[in-house]
Amino acid sequence: MDGARVYKNKNALFIYIRCCLDACLICLVVNMCGIIGYIGNDNGIEVVFNGLIRLEYRGYDSVGIGFKDKKGKIKAVKSVGRIQRSDVAPGMPNLEEKIKENGRFKFDSQIVIGHTRWATHGAPSERNAHPHVSMSGRFAIVHNGIIENYYTLKKELVDKGYKFSSETDSEVIAHLIDYFYNGDFVEAVRKTLTKLDGAYSFLVISEVDDFIIGAKKGSPLCVGIGNDEIIISSDEMPFVDRTKKVIYLNDNELIIAYFNGNYDVKSFEGIDIEKEIKGVPYDIEAITKAGYKHFMLKEIHEQPTTVKNAFISRVDHLDTMVRDNFPNLPRNINRVIYLGCGTSLYAGMVGMYITERYAHVPSRSEYASEFIYRDPVIFRNDVCIALSQSGETADTKEALKIVKDKGAYVAGIVNTVGSQIARLAGKGMYLHAGPEIGVASTKAFTSQIIAINLFNMLLIDDDDYRQSIINEMKRLPNKIKDVFNNEDYIRDIAPMIARYKNFLYLGRDINYPVALEGALKMKEIAYIHAEGYSSGEMKHGPIALVDDNLLSVFIITGGRDIYQKTLNNLLEIKSRNGKVLVITDNVDEMRKYLGNDDYIIKVPNTIPQLTPIINIIPLQLLSYYVADHLGREIDKPRNLAKSVTVE
Ligand code: F6R
Repeated sequence: MDGARVYKNKNALFIYIRCCLDACLICLVVNMCGIIGYIGNDNGIEVVFNGLIRLEYRGYDSVGIGFKDKKGKIKAVKSVGRIQRSDVAPGMPNLEEKIKENGRFKFDSQIVIGHTRWATHGAPSERNAHPHVSMSGRFAIVHNGIIENYYTLKKELVDKGYKFSSETDSEVIAHLIDYFYNGDFVEAVRKTLTKLDGAYSFLVISEVDDFIIGAKKGSPLCVGIGNDEIIISSDEMPFVDRTKKVIYLNDNELIIAYFNGNYDVKSFEGIDIEKEIKGVPYDIEAITKAGYKHFMLKEIHEQPTTVKNAFISRVDHLDTMVRDNFPNLPRNINRVIYLGCGTSLYAGMVGMYITERYAHVPSRSEYASEFIYRDPVIFRNDVCIALSQSGETADTKEALKIVKDKGAYVAGIVNTVGSQIARLAGKGMYLHAGPEIGVASTKAFTSQIIAINLFNMLLIDDDDYRQSIINEMKRLPNKIKDVFNNEDYIRDIAPMIARYKNFLYLGRDINYPVALEGALKMKEIAYIHAEGYSSGEMKHGPIALVDDNLLSVFIITGGRDIYQKTLNNLLEIKSRNGKVLVITDNVDEMRKYLGNDDYIIKVPNTIPQLTPIINIIPLQLLSYYVADHLGREIDKPRNLAKSVTVE
C-alpha cells in the first residue's frame, strides 16, 4: 500500500493504520526471506537461479532476480509462486518461465542479486517481490528482515518526491541510497544505514559501479569466496558446491564484493575489518535428496547417523570435550532453564525432566516467545540453554539476550554452525546433524536430546550413571534402525489414519513432550488438527472429544509406573469406544487391550532419558506418510518457513 496515496482523508488514514498494524502482526509471525548475490565470470543468472532453489527451504511466496544487463542498465524479473516451472501446475506463475527460453537462460550477467520473499509488508505479488529498484533506476536491492521505521522514512521520501511502487518496507532502502548518492556508491549505502532501524541484511547493485554491497544487522549474511567469484547469501547452501571458503559477517558490518574474488569488509562507520575465512562444514550431498521423495523423509532416515554424530566424538572425553563446551559452569546451579520455540522447545521440555529427575537441579523449559515479554526473574547462577536448529529464531535469540543481560550463565545447543544464536551464546554444543532442509524439524530434535543428555551428565557426579547413558547411546543407532522396520506398516495404514479429522497425542512424564512434538508434526505437514496432551490430564476435559472422528495416539513406554498409568488412560478411552494408535515397547501386553481397528507400533526398549528419541521417529513417519497420502507439500508446508527470524 502506498502511504502517501491513502493518507488523504481520515477514513483512508484509519484504513492505512489498520493495514500497518496488520502488516506488523504478520511480521510478528514470521519473516525469513532468502537473499543471494553473485559477482564473477560465469553467468550469474544461472548461479543465482540455482542458489534461490537452495534457499527455498526458508519458505517463500514470490521470487525475483536483479542484474546489470550488457549495457550496464539494471533489470529486475519477478514472479509470484515458485522458482521452478516443474513445481507448479501448467499455466501457474514461476520465475523460470520468465528467465529461460527453450531450456536456456535468456539473460547473461556477471553481477546479479536474487531474493525469495515471504510476505510481511504487503501481499505476495509481483510488485512487492524483490528486487526493488530506486526511482531513478540506478540501484536495486534485495532485503531480508524488517525496516521498523520504514513508515517514517517512506513519508520523508514521498515528501522529497520519491514514488513507491510496492507496499514493502524494503523499498525505502533503494530510494534512500539513491537520495544519498553523490558520486560515491559506498558512501550512499553507509549514509542509508544510519537511517535504518530494525533487523536486516540486504544486497545492493548499482548502474554506476561494478560491485555488490552487502550489509548486515540482525539478519544472517555470509560470503562464499571463490577463485574468481564471490557469492553472498543468507546461508552457505547456494555456494557450497562452488566454494568451501566462507566468511560470516557480524552485525554492523558491510562487504563490498568486486570481480576476481576480491572484497573489502568494513564497519558501518567505514573502518576496515579483517575477517577470518572459515570452512563450510558440510558437502553438497548433504543438501540433495539422495533419492528420497522428500527432504523430510531423507532427514528422518538420517537419524541413526545424526544421533551418533551428536555423541560419538564426545562420550569418551566427557570431562574434556563436553566440559570445555560449557566452561566455568557454576558450581551451585540454581536452575537450568531451557529456552526455545516449537520442536526445539519440546526438546527442552525433555531436558527439564532429565535435569530434575537425574541431576536433582530445579529446571524448567520456556517458550522463548512468552519468556521475553514476562520480565523473568533470573539469578546469576541460573544456567540458561538456548535450543535452536537454525540458530536464527528471533524469539530464542531475544530470550538469550535477556538472560545474558541479567547475568545468567548462557549456552546454546544449536545445529547451524556460526549462526546468530551460536555466536550470541558463545559456548555450548553444535549438533553436527547437517543442514535440515525439510521445514518440519526432525533430526534436530533427536540430536538435541542427545546434547541435552551430554550436558546433564556434567551435572551428575556419578560414573555409573554416565556409563549407563553412554552404553545406551552407543546402542541407539541400531535401535533407531529397528524402528524403521515399522515403516511399511506405517505407510500402509496412512490412508486409514488420514481419514480422522482430529488427533489427541497422549503421553506422560518424559513422553509428554513427545506427544506435543508428534502432534506438531501432524498439524504442520498434514494440516490435520492434532493436540498434544498429558495423558493424565485427558480425563479433565479432552475425553469429551472421543468419537469416531478422533484418533488417540498413545506413547506408552518408560518405567513401570509411567507405563501403567498411561495404560490406564488408554483403557479409559477404549471403554468409551475410542480408536487408538499406540507406540509401545510392550506389544504383547498391549494387544490384549486393543481391538482389530486399533493400531500398534512396536519400538525398541531403551532407558527413559533416551526414549523420546526412539518414540518420536514412528510419529515423524506417521505424519510424513499421512501428509504424503493427502498430497501435501511436505518440505514446504503452507504458511511455514524454516527460519523464523522475526519475533
Ligand atoms: C517444527 C519446527 C518449528 C521450529 C521452531 C524453532 O517442525 O520446525 O517449530 O522447531 O520454529 O526453530 P529453531 O529450532 O530453528 O530455533
